[in-house]
Amino acid sequence: MIVLNSVAELDEWRRDLPAGSVVVLVPTMGALHTGHLELVRTAVATPDAMVVVSIFVNPGQFGPTEDFGKYPRVLESDLAMLRGAGVAAVFTPTEMDLYPLGYRVATRVRVPRMGKRLCGKSRTRFFEGVCSVVLRLLNSVLPSQLILGEKDFQQVQVIRAMCQDLFVPVVIRSVPTVREGDGLAMSSRNRYLSVTDRGTAIQLYRALSGAMDAVWSGERDVKRIENTVRAQLAKYPAITIDYVEVVDPTIRKQRWVTHSSRLVAAIWINGTRLIDNVPLSLPSKES
Ligand code: PAJ
Repeated sequence: MIVLNSVAELDEWRRDLPAGSVVVLVPTMGALHTGHLELVRTAVATPDAMVVVSIFVNPGQFGPTEDFGKYPRVLESDLAMLRGAGVAAVFTPTEMDLYPLGYRVATRVRVPRMGKRLCGKSRTRFFEGVCSVVLRLLNSVLPSQLILGEKDFQQVQVIRAMCQDLFVPVVIRSVPTVREGDGLAMSSRNRYLSVTDRGTAIQLYRALSGAMDAVWSGERDVKRIENTVRAQLAKYPAITIDYVEVVDPTIRKQRWVTHSSRLVAAIWINGTRLIDNVPLSLPSKES
């Protein structure tokens, strides 16, 4: 596993790749956990894969009052986790590398409609920041495949839309959410939670699972599903709800559950923002 600290080093590495290599990119912001490793496993399992994991805490996707400053930066332990996982290269560009003129004056990419809803509503520049960095990573790594986690369902859909609209020749594959034993979606931000808040955090997945069960038992009315999830979460004073919605893959609100419905939610627990989502699968005879 080679560590490439700049775009120049990446270019050189890329030039010497054996013919027929399939470059697969797994973009991350580091502070790696088992969820990230599942993306890596999926990437490595690709025939002829040369897997590149990028680690870059992207300033563009953090709002002025968000946790850019305190976001965990633990490169040595990240590299230790990746060693032995079959990764060909870890790409750790600097801010200067990706934004030579500085982020503020750099060209940015926006996916207007999809990127403004849900997470894009409370984090207004978030998806602009994500798209602007992911397109730079794609254009420097030039992968034929990109691996993303469904934990960030809206992010997957926004990046899909960007790549489709801008004719980016990459296959996007998504990996189901990896969870802790009690169901909490793994996230680099879980480490911000106190022991008590960690106990409360499980209520998010419990509420979403309750909705999955309700759909399985015949519930199809989106308003009722959303209200039940909200009421469930509202029982916990430490939880503030950002959104609870059932959307289709284009992030449009739905009125009735269909086979492509996704229940998505974001909450704050004492200042820590957590997101999660589940597919609302209909029994197979209906789908
Ligand atoms: P980060 O939060 O580090 O996540 C990197 C990738 O890991 C994303 O595709 C994310 O969806 C996936 N991931 C995180 N937790 C997961 C889990 N529990 N199960 C499955 N996949 C999980 O997402 C970002 O970084 C950034 O926005 C990035 C795309 C790198 C652009 O800066």
